[in-house]
Amino acid sequence: MTNALKIAFSDAPKGAPKKAGATGAVACAIEEGRKLGPAAQRVDEETGGAISRALKVSRFNGKTGESLTVLAPSDAAYSRVYLYGVGRGLELLQWQDVGGRLAKALNADGEKEALICVDLGAVSAADAAANLAYGALLSGYRFDKYRTKEKASDKPTLRKLSVQSEEPAKARKLYKDLEAVADGVFFTRDLVSEPPNVLYPESFAKELQALEALGVEVEVMGEKKLEKLGMGALLAVGRGSRRESQVVVMKWNGAGKSSRPLCFVGKGVTFDTGGISLKPAGGMEEMKWDMGGAGAVSGLMKALAGRKAKANVIGAVGLVENMPDGDAQRPGDVVTSMSGQTIEVINTDAEGRLVLCDVLTYVQKEHKPQLIVDLATLTGAIIIGLGHEHAGLFCNDDELAERLHRAGQDSAEKVWRLPMGEDYDKQLKSDIADMKNVGGRPAGSITAAQFLARFIDNTKWAHLDIAGMAWSTKEKPTVPKGATGFGVRLLNRFVADHYG
Ligand code: BES
Ligand code: MN
Ligand code: ZN
Repeated sequence: MTNALKIAFSDAPKGAPKKAGATGAVACAIEEGRKLGPAAQRVDEETGGAISRALKVSRFNGKTGESLTVLAPSDAAYSRVYLYGVGRGLELLQWQDVGGRLAKALNADGEKEALICVDLGAVSAADAAANLAYGALLSGYRFDKYRTKEKASDKPTLRKLSVQSEEPAKARKLYKDLEAVADGVFFTRDLVSEPPNVLYPESFAKELQALEALGVEVEVMGEKKLEKLGMGALLAVGRGSRRESQVVVMKWNGAGKSSRPLCFVGKGVTFDTGGISLKPAGGMEEMKWDMGGAGAVSGLMKALAGRKAKANVIGAVGLVENMPDGDAQRPGDVVTSMSGQTIEVINTDAEGRLVLCDVLTYVQKEHKPQLIVDLATLTGAIIIGLGHEHAGLFCNDDELAERLHRAGQDSAEKVWRLPMGEDYDKQLKSDIADMKNVGGRPAGSITAAQFLARFIDNTKWAHLDIAGMAWSTKEKPTVPKGATGFGVRLLNRFVADHYG
């Protein structure tokens, strides 16, 4: 991960307007109807009326999302003036988008330094400033460690942002927590972006051990231990791989001993070939991000520890590689899960549920959580149903579902609930074992969730199918193309809103 961007918060300027000596760019808010905020008025003066002149000859109106770049006169204190529309005032997520868009524009223009003035907000000045900075930070993520030949002129230039508002001290404080969340998001994006020859179960586990520096307890379990625990389903998936399967449990104890932990479980298939039920060659390289659920859980733990969340949280990830091999599991095999339930493996490509079911059993037995949320790039079918706009949400508790839905709306990582029920569950009936691992083509994402539900005993539980969300081919203001880090902001918000 590279992010050399330094962000500082400063007070609104006092005294006479600045004149000569260009120090970088400046950005100001304009309200719908071309109304200049206090900062824009001041900069207009400082630049000899450059803003007013530009507004007169452009179609920029100040609507939310609009922007206009103005070259400042040669004797001005700035190189360029960026105008951003705030409509009739912006919400938190819109401030994040403004930050993301400005950072991108500044980089595209080769600016190294900028002063961003925040006013005209619908939210408090501190919230606006902190969220703008957060958006700028999130947008600047790049995974470029394997590029050896990138030209300097193609690299980002922006190094310093100074965010000016009426409440700099408050903004700085809010930003501190947001920065910790961004660190978590970047950790997830890094893990998901790594190629599968570099990131495999053991190397993934090693990356997670680094979280100990933040005060997270990290326990790594190898195959010997997993066999002892009876994780026959998870181990069956890893059989075809030269790499040893791992389960990693991360603990953050931010609340008193008595409070039962929240538990987050992630699917960590570091590469999914499909196994003996081999996937087609086209696009198979994308299956390096089949560990996106485990990546999100890891980034979440980093975010929570980084901002010292006052909650007890356990993150557990099942790390395996699904490969075809002489020793791989076969379609038709029957495996015994840690819960004791037997599974007829009809399709070795439906491996995620085999990994998750044993980790779900383990965390319930070992940690008696007050609730469990699992994340998994579980089914292609969820992409058919929801596209790349919502993760699928499956839940056995209405309040929990509502909380996750809300957290999604407030964090720009949206989820949409889908139904579950006995009639779907019937599709998993096997002729020779307790269940099959696939339920046929209809409602493929739902039957995958029904499979997992069979391993939940009387615990509030939600399953997020993030197959359409872990990776993106389209960039958004705060999410560059590639690994999105989906789940970290959502679940950080969920924890912050309800559990301290
Ligand atoms: N990792 C895939 C799901 C997936 C597919 C994620 C496409 C992202 C994009 C999962 O292990 C899988 O292969 N699922 C199968 C299930 C089927 C065999 C019942 C699928 O979705 O085709
Ligand atoms: Mn698969
Ligand atoms: Zn998979």
